[in-house]
Amino acid sequence: MRIQRIMRSQGINGPSYKFIQGNMRDMYTKRMQAMATPMELSHNILPRVIPHVHSWLNDYGRSFLQWYGIEAQLIITDPEMIKEVLNDKQKNYPKAKLGRDLLRIFGDGLVTSEGQRWAKSRKIANFAFHGDSLKNMIPTMIECGEKMIEGWKNHEGKELDVYKELKVYTLDVISRTAFGSSYQQGLNIFHMLQQLTDLSIRNGYKIKLPIISKILRSKDDVEGERLEKRMKECFTEIIRGREDRSKNGGGEGYGNDFLGMLVKAKNEGEKSERITMDVIVAECKTFYFAGHETTNVLIAWIMFLLALHKQWQEQARDEVFRIFGHSSNPTQANTLTSSDFSPLSSSSHSLPPSLRSCYFNLWRRNHFPPLSSLIGTKPQMPS
Ligand code: HEM
Repeated sequence: MRIQRIMRSQGINGPSYKFIQGNMRDMYTKRMQAMATPMELSHNILPRVIPHVHSWLNDYGRSFLQWYGIEAQLIITDPEMIKEVLNDKQKNYPKAKLGRDLLRIFGDGLVTSEGQRWAKSRKIANFAFHGDSLKNMIPTMIECGEKMIEGWKNHEGKELDVYKELKVYTLDVISRTAFGSSYQQGLNIFHMLQQLTDLSIRNGYKIKLPIISKILRSKDDVEGERLEKRMKECFTEIIRGREDRSKNGGGEGYGNDFLGMLVKAKNEGEKSERITMDVIVAECKTFYFAGHETTNVLIAWIMFLLALHKQWQEQARDEVFRIFGHSSNPTQANTLTSSDFSPLSSSSHSLPPSLRSCYFNLWRRNHFPPLSSLIGTKPQMPS
């Protein structure tokens, strides 16, 4: 209440705090109302994606205070203020503390860690994802994409949920490029992540009383714990597999991918510098989730927009042919440098270089049908 008073005295208003639940019930209701009807085909996505923010921006202005349970959150939308936070004062804004449900999905890895722990994992990630490593991943990305598009051939003339297809694709890519996992292992993790995500969405706006929720555990809590345990076992099995392979003289040591670097950091170097099994499992979860969900949503959205605007598709295709030519040799991607991507003006705003290369290769090889026929006249929106 003190925070609310101080903020109001500075002209920052917002919905009033309600005992324990803050504004969570309002947020939940607005979200349910927004999701109850199909979205019109428009770029105006704010009322759909974060309806409470949209509505409170109209009511209280460009900065306002909202309550996520007992936590006060200051929402700012002025670009200059955002720049100040991101550029100048970032040390004043620690990383977000994730709730139990999100931690189960994300793991307590790079996205949430700070200080020494962050620096150690970040060094490993930088090494595993530098430019040349990304380029080496391109053939795998193309292979996964070709597999997905091959499957689409059976759907000719029918509606297809591209969002779901891309989820499997992005998971396939991350599990094979970063973890060298088989499709089956990736699929198991995918199913568990999917169930954990569903649980998290279902419980995102529910109020949890700290002590009571530990004693009276809901069915979803029990299920969440079970899935978390199974996921840990699954990653531990993959990690032990790498250790065994190295012990048995597999030739490649622990491997050169992200997982290989993590396992190396667990077993080699100064004892005090080594990372633990728990840290590896946390980073695996972080990269599985952060590495697919973001790109999944992004590509689905790009495809949706391209389907709406056929002229953008034609422009993008023209650029692809102009830059890459009509050659059908996918390994050509390996010889590209980052400067080869810079002339891709219309598309370069939307895709990271490695993914762009993968997509443009598929496109160049004429595997991509016109998008309007893929998504149909009633596009499936991400839920
Ligand atoms: C369209 C694609 C992506 C978007 C929009 C995106 C967005 C973001 C954002 C906004 C953050 C900062 C989060 C914060 O500090 O609160 C972040 C961090 C992070 N992202 Fe992504 N991401 C994308 C793709 C990826 C991919 C493909 C990976 C892994 C392969 C990844 C792994 C990470 C990691 C590990 C961090 C934490 C970095 C650190 O704190 O050092 N992201 N991402």
